[in-house]
Amino acid sequence: MKKIIIGNWKMNPTSLSQVVKLAREIDKNIPTKRKLELVIAPPFPFLIPVREVLTKSKLGAQNSFWKEKGAYTGEVSPAMLKSVGVKYVILGHSERREHLYESDEIINKKIKTVLASGLKAIFCVGERDRAKEDFQLFVKNELSSGLKNIPVKFFRRIIIAYEPIWSIGTGKTVGPQDLYEMSIYIRRVLLDIFGKEAAHSIPVLYGGSVDSRNSRSFLEVDGINGLLVGGASTNAQEFIKIIKSAIIKN
Ligand code: PGA
Repeated sequence: MKKIIIGNWKMNPTSLSQVVKLAREIDKNIPTKRKLELVIAPPFPFLIPVREVLTKSKLGAQNSFWKEKGAYTGEVSPAMLKSVGVKYVILGHSERREHLYESDEIINKKIKTVLASGLKAIFCVGERDRAKEDFQLFVKNELSSGLKNIPVKFFRRIIIAYEPIWSIGTGKTVGPQDLYEMSIYIRRVLLDIFGKEAAHSIPVLYGGSVDSRNSRSFLEVDGINGLLVGGASTNAQEFIKIIKSAIIKN
């Protein structure tokens, strides 16, 4: 399976000129020969300018609404995103669950609309605290609620990003054995939901404090098919090193 590297820029950078500079810097340094799927997810206002710069990666969005059109002030639909060239949408991110009060039900509706629009959904799951909760059950519940009543035929457009909340932006990361076990566990849950083929084919990524020094260690874990990178993806040099580490692995 091709490795997938996703840059989630979150609410950064804050100006168009900085965004274009970052996108150009990344684009020009991406090796041309690579067996890798690269996705960059800038903030909404910068999707088109970033699209204009990117020649070697796909465009991702950081959110979308669960309706295709209508009277929903401030919202953006998957159809709109698709029409400007977006191929992937990040959904279920813990920052949206926490700050925007997105529930499992809302996330499920969003995933359904994204998949029905023909876009790929990067569905984020991950526990809050390993010591204080049954973290496997927590992840299982997120997966089952988020993927509830999703037709099996859509499974090829689903990507799971395992992002433990305690590791996002903290510098703390999951050890290789724990990550391996979680990837197996996630695939077991996917097996129950969608069956064997999907459980084998759905990519499982890791996200949480990934940087150029640790990226390879995650990519070397069996069952991990790529990375969802936050902070380090807004630093061109760092992100390029991360991308190169994935190419070496291939
Ligand atoms: P981080 O964020 O790499 O800055 O920890 C990852 C994410 O939230 O997707």
